[in-house]
Amino acid sequence: MAASHLKIENLNVSIEGKHILRDFNLEVKGGEIHAIMGPNGTGKSTLASAIMGHPKYEITSGSIFMDGEDVLEMEVDERAQAGLFLAMQYPSEISGITNADFLRSAINSGREEGEEISLMKFIRKMDSKMDTLDIDQSFSQRYLNEGFSGGEKKRNEILQLLMLEPKIAILDEIDSGLDIDALKVVSKGVNEMRSEDFGCLIITHYQRLLNYITPDKVHVMMQGRIVKSGGAELAERLEAEGYDWIKTELGIEDERVNVNQEA
Ligand SMILES: Nc1ncnc2c1ncn2[C@@H]1O[C@H](COP(=O)(O)OP(=O)(O)OP(=O)(O)O)[C@@H](O)[C@H]1O
Ligand SMILES: [Mg+2]
Repeated sequence: MAASHLKIENLNVSIEGKHILRDFNLEVKGGEIHAIMGPNGTGKSTLASAIMGHPKYEITSGSIFMDGEDVLEMEVDERAQAGLFLAMQYPSEISGITNADFLRSAINSGREEGEEISLMKFIRKMDSKMDTLDIDQSFSQRYLNEGFSGGEKKRNEILQLLMLEPKIAILDEIDSGLDIDALKVVSKGVNEMRSEDFGCLIITHYQRLLNYITPDKVHVMMQGRIVKSGGAELAERLEAEGYDWIKTELGIEDERVNVNQEA
């Protein structure tokens, strides 16, 4: 299997003419778990959407490479096939497609004709992963995210992660709205994926999640770029002291992506 290596270099992203990501750099390799923290409106979800190829986000310069392949040249489905996975901050509901149908076609779309997963194998895998995540079996036949509670949607995103087995996953606020038990279950799912072939980028506001999933690196985003990186201890300090000390240290007055900033 090819290595799992996401490399983002000097990425600049605009939305509706507004410059959001500014010379953004990050490298995530198989075996590593990175956490991105940062105040609201600093570009974290924009980063996730840009990597996955959301059409609204315009890449004005810079590059994204996945195992040496140019991600920016790929269509959205090709990005998934290259091993990229995104759990969105606000997962969409899709009526008319069941969870099981969606997952089966997602798995098969990454495979050659004749190499499709057998129905038996698929069902067995799905049953076992749903068991791990404490998801009721009835969810496999429910329409994708339709009527799912906030916590159920997040759990379902992790089910997709375990079923699709991507090389690099980006989890945007996978912990928001989770009760304590669900937080543990979701963490268990991510930890189960840990291997040399899997790299993960966790966007979160809370150290809480990182108590269960120990990150190798923690980055702080402000003004559309990473302004500080450290180890797990950085998240602990942020939890205790907030972001003001970083702003003071770096002379940042307003951490948000600011339209008035120099282009
Ligand atoms: N589709 C969009 N249309 C207009 N503005 C957008 C859009 N997406 C992002 N922005 C703007 O870009 C900036 C960064 O937003 P983004 O969602 O990336 O922040 P975030 O760091 O994920 O914040 P949060 O922690 O609140 O989720 C914000 O000012 C936001 O309003
Ligand atoms: Mg966000």
